Amino acid sequence: MEHINLRARAKINLTLDVTGIRSDGYHELKMIMQTVELYDRVFIKKTDKPGIKIKSNLEWLPCDSRNLAYKAANLMMSRYGIDDGVFIELRKSIPVAAGLAGGSADCAAVLYGMNILFGLGVSRSEMSKAALELGSDVPYCLMRGTALAEGRGEILTKLPPCPNAWVVLAKPTMSLSTAAVYKAIDAVEIGEHPDCDGMIEDIKNSDIYGVSKKLSNVLEAASIPMCPMIADIKKDMLDLGALNSLMSGSGPTVYGLFDNKETAKGAADKIKKKYRLRDVVLTKIFNV
Ligand code: C5P
Repeated sequence: MEHINLRARAKINLTLDVTGIRSDGYHELKMIMQTVELYDRVFIKKTDKPGIKIKSNLEWLPCDSRNLAYKAANLMMSRYGIDDGVFIELRKSIPVAAGLAGGSADCAAVLYGMNILFGLGVSRSEMSKAALELGSDVPYCLMRGTALAEGRGEILTKLPPCPNAWVVLAKPTMSLSTAAVYKAIDAVEIGEHPDCDGMIEDIKNSDIYGVSKKLSNVLEAASIPMCPMIADIKKDMLDLGALNSLMSGSGPTVYGLFDNKETAKGAADKIKKKYRLRDVVLTKIFNV
């Protein structure tokens, strides 16, 4: 095999709870993660020339060692003694720095793809450990589907597939630093914690209305003061017919869940126009 073409899908958080701070500075999390259909295309090709070359459709995106896809290729090459080079093309559709794990999904796709392309036979658990070295969301992005993520995000329990729904993603123009949001949450008294166990029951019962009612992300309390548009878009999603709406990850992307495609499309169009946003996407829950 000389090349491989992959789809690296975005995720949303159905819940995100912070349950403590660890001695290494990371936060102890409990969250229900869900893959959506929206994807970046990741094309990986072996090259005779050693080294890593990355190209993307976004001219402003760093394609050097700051890019998580580069870091993934570098890790695979050094750890498993690959002498060939690789050319990686990223065709990005997932909004960047948005709380949708776009960079982590590309990173996971490169780990997975290089394992296959070079016939390395690295086990799932070893792959997951390597993934965590590159970012807290990367182990989940290797697994995909509906999952409970704990610890830094790497202790994963596969859940039954979340019932289907239309998802409108709307990213406010500004970006938020994940590290800054997690730092800010330390100064916030967390009021109500998400009902993860209740939501897992709803998922088991294929009850999208129960799931919708329990959407909850404690990081909103840190992100909304930095980006008030998050609260405005959440309100609009509800006014425009969403079952419920939430910020994903550390934000700033807000999503709405809808049980009807036309309503979802109408909401996406109106929100895009009202806030003059570039990144508004109509997608749906995706289960592997
Ligand atoms: O692991 P990753 O590089 O994606 O994390 C980015 C930043 O988010 C970390 O540097 C940390 O500030 C914060 N974070 C955290 N606790 C987690 C995951 C991320 O504090 N469980």
